Amino acid sequence: MLNWGVIGPGGIAHVFCNGMRFTDTGQILAVGSRTESRAEDFAQNFDIPRHYGTYEALLADDDIDAVYVATIHPHHAEWMIKAAEANKHVLVEKPLSINHATAVTMVEAARKNDVFLMEAFMYRCHPQIQKMVELIQDGEIGEVRFIRSSFGFQAGFNPDSRLFNREMGGGGILDVGCYTASFARKVAGAAANKPFLNPISVKANGKVGPTGVDHIAAATLKFENEIVAEIATTVECNIGSRATVYGSGGTIDIPQPWLPSSPCRGTRSPLPLDTPFPPSKIILNSSQRGETTEITVEVDRDLFTYEADMVANHIADRQAPAMSWDDTLGNMHLLDAWREEIGMAV
Ligand SMILES: NC(=O)c1ccc[n+]([C@@H]2O[C@H](COP(=O)([O-])OP(=O)(O)OC[C@H]3O[C@@H](n4cnc5c(N)ncnc54)[C@H](OP(=O)(O)O)[C@@H]3O)[C@@H](O)[C@H]2O)c1
Repeated sequence: MLNWGVIGPGGIAHVFCNGMRFTDTGQILAVGSRTESRAEDFAQNFDIPRHYGTYEALLADDDIDAVYVATIHPHHAEWMIKAAEANKHVLVEKPLSINHATAVTMVEAARKNDVFLMEAFMYRCHPQIQKMVELIQDGEIGEVRFIRSSFGFQAGFNPDSRLFNREMGGGGILDVGCYTASFARKVAGAAANKPFLNPISVKANGKVGPTGVDHIAAATLKFENEIVAEIATTVECNIGSRATVYGSGGTIDIPQPWLPSSPCRGTRSPLPLDTPFPPSKIILNSSQRGETTEITVEVDRDLFTYEADMVANHIADRQAPAMSWDDTLGNMHLLDAWREEIGMAV
């Protein structure tokens, strides 16, 4: 049983703590906020025994084994490194940091202090990704040739919100484009029997708004195994969430690539413990066999419970197969390249 401490009790921290209600691998022992009353309210909401009015106080609690850093992205590095120095294992929200260079210092901190570190790409912890890898490696769609993935939504422009404010790490690429990049790298790797591949070429276009962050961005990637990917993200129109893999003998379509099976995502209140978790679906269209099959991936937990369990089950290894340190660094490198290509400083 891991004793967790949560740093930054905002939107996603509510979802994670809800997910923790459905696990037997750990419990939330404490929450820390820059504002004491926010920590207290959050603790009351989720029945968390301890709350702290500073992050430092949380890190000084010797009973905490693992810290979940759920602040906005520019603050991930500072608190991840301080948590590692306090000998805590760390799960850090995506993106690990705001650029590759700071991500390297975070990985070094985990290595030096001999603690676990994972970037919280929860979709990588869900069984549908493992199923997709199996389908690819079993040759169900022949040779993988092309990948298309997108994640984008319409957010009202607000220069002070974390989505549009540059100092707060704004822009679609860092917020949700990171999913599309990590998906393409995962699929290209699966086709090569590797955990991931990094692209050998990145070309991109985008629209940078008045606050200096990307509102729309699309990139094409090429991998060493000749696979080409198209990835897209926006924060000013709804392009939805799609992930499709095209092969020489068919396609794999994942209708809910990023947020499958997650009732926890829909509420800030604690969910009843008998909440059912919906299975996810993968559509396999085999031109080799001339048939379309809807594959059901059964689950027994929430998406965010899978993520917490991924951490608990791999603590001793210091990194988890869902998102290894090299995988994260490769993704951060790609996000830098994508933003540089559209004229943003990283
Ligand atoms: N995995 C997912 O599905 C998912 C979904 C949404 C977001 N995320 C990621 O989770 C992180 C947090 O996102 P969120 O939507 O939860 O953010 P949020 O609610 O706006 O903020 C989270 C926490 O960050 C701290 N914070 C906010 N503004 C700050 C500022 N200007 N300066 C310093 N600290 C500030 C606050 O902590 P205090 O209470 O201590 O002040 C706040 O509670 C982001 O990195 C995001 O990419 C992941």
